[in-house]
Amino acid sequence: ALKTALQDLEAKFTVDRQKLKQISQRFEEELREGLQKDGCNIPMNVTWTLGFPSGDEAGEFLAVDLGGTNLRVCWIVLKGREEEKVVTQKKYKLPAEIKTGEAEALWRLIVDSLEDFIATNELPRDDGEPLALGFTFSYPAHQDYVDHGVLQTWTKGFDIKGVEGEDAASQLTEAMKKRNLPVRLVALINDTTGAMIASAYNDPETIIGAIFGTGCNAAYMDHVGSIPKLHTDLPDATPMAINCEYGAFDNAHRVLPLTKYDEAIDRESPRPGEQSFEKMSAGLYLGELFRHILCEMYDKGLVFKGQDVKKLQEPYALDTGFLSSLEDDPFREARGRFEDYLNISITWEELQLAQRLAEIIAVRGARLCTCGVSAICRMKGIESGHVAADGSVANKHPKFKARWAQAMGEVLDWPSDRKEDPIIITSAEDGSGIGAAVISAMTLQRVKQGN
Ligand code: BG6
Ligand code: GLC
Repeated sequence: ALKTALQDLEAKFTVDRQKLKQISQRFEEELREGLQKDGCNIPMNVTWTLGFPSGDEAGEFLAVDLGGTNLRVCWIVLKGREEEKVVTQKKYKLPAEIKTGEAEALWRLIVDSLEDFIATNELPRDDGEPLALGFTFSYPAHQDYVDHGVLQTWTKGFDIKGVEGEDAASQLTEAMKKRNLPVRLVALINDTTGAMIASAYNDPETIIGAIFGTGCNAAYMDHVGSIPKLHTDLPDATPMAINCEYGAFDNAHRVLPLTKYDEAIDRESPRPGEQSFEKMSAGLYLGELFRHILCEMYDKGLVFKGQDVKKLQEPYALDTGFLSSLEDDPFREARGRFEDYLNISITWEELQLAQRLAEIIAVRGARLCTCGVSAICRMKGIESGHVAADGSVANKHPKFKARWAQAMGEVLDWPSDRKEDPIIITSAEDGSGIGAAVISAMTLQRVKQGN
């Protein structure tokens, strides 16, 4: 029975080349629709980051990064591409209650962290000017200008009351004002745009910034003339970074091969019906898929007979880290991990099954992750370059990059005898630190020039 169950799962989780191409094609259509008008599935958010950096950007900046897992504050000194950057940073705890609490508690936590950081590092320095802050807010935000961002919807399991439909930049600014923090918010950025710009600061081959982490998304550089929904006086040729927010791809469920486990995850999430693509491919959900399948197998009497599975039944009990190392771990270590995490004593057969499950879930995720990037490349006619990637899946899953590369070749028909891949993943250079600083520097330069 176990064998049949596994074969059934293998079939359901396989995304073959033809299916990949079909998804990627539909993806391209949705990207184009998002540029046409507001209110589409994929919002294609205009970021007001107008072009790639020259490499000369310089200055001192504070950066605060509200990702999905951490809250991080950084102090960054940029002296131009050729010079060493100085980065001082501290991670602050982002307690689980904050993620589903009230806006006020979120802003208080950020202001407390900034205050602590400024005091510990004895900022500001000499001139009494407020410190320039780049705020990396890695959620979908509609921006009318660079220091503004109305939250469209929370993603990645966040559900904080009082921010959706509001300008997150001015909420943070208000909270800082109340506390008299000597800080001025210069830019609100997405982690994908940050990854792209931080990398482009050093690497001119950068084409896309992508996050394969708790969430899944990418940014690329377009032109004002290719964004029909944007009404502006800027010339058509003006470059404009677009934060796609493509985790929301196929919310209408036209092409994604959803399984009943994906449907369960969606149903139990704070925003059912949203982020369909992200829920099948991003780190937050990979461990959860694995958990759902094992729970079902337990209920059918196929695994962990007679054991206490209370821990396994806790939603989100397993993170990406668990799944990342499971695939190749020797029996002793993997068994230890099941004991530590889940209080389950696993047999050799069960471990074989668990490893295969971890593999099919991760392979499907990595393959799906190529659909968004390949769709951007086709839409813009990009044939080569570097995808600056960050996030726990890209960085911690030992096989992600190889699987992604294999599937990119399939979806874009790269010749099988190629010497190198034309489009490769590179490690993003701290998008929410360096990227936020570079975008802030570009913004201040523009203001100075009166643009
Ligand atoms: C971090 C960046 O390295 O990666 C964040 O500093 C980004 O800005 C994050 O959001 C994405 O990875 P994860 O796995 O934490 O979602
Ligand atoms: C989610 C967010 C998006 C972010 C991505 C990666 O998709 O909505 O803004 O870029 O996660 O962190």
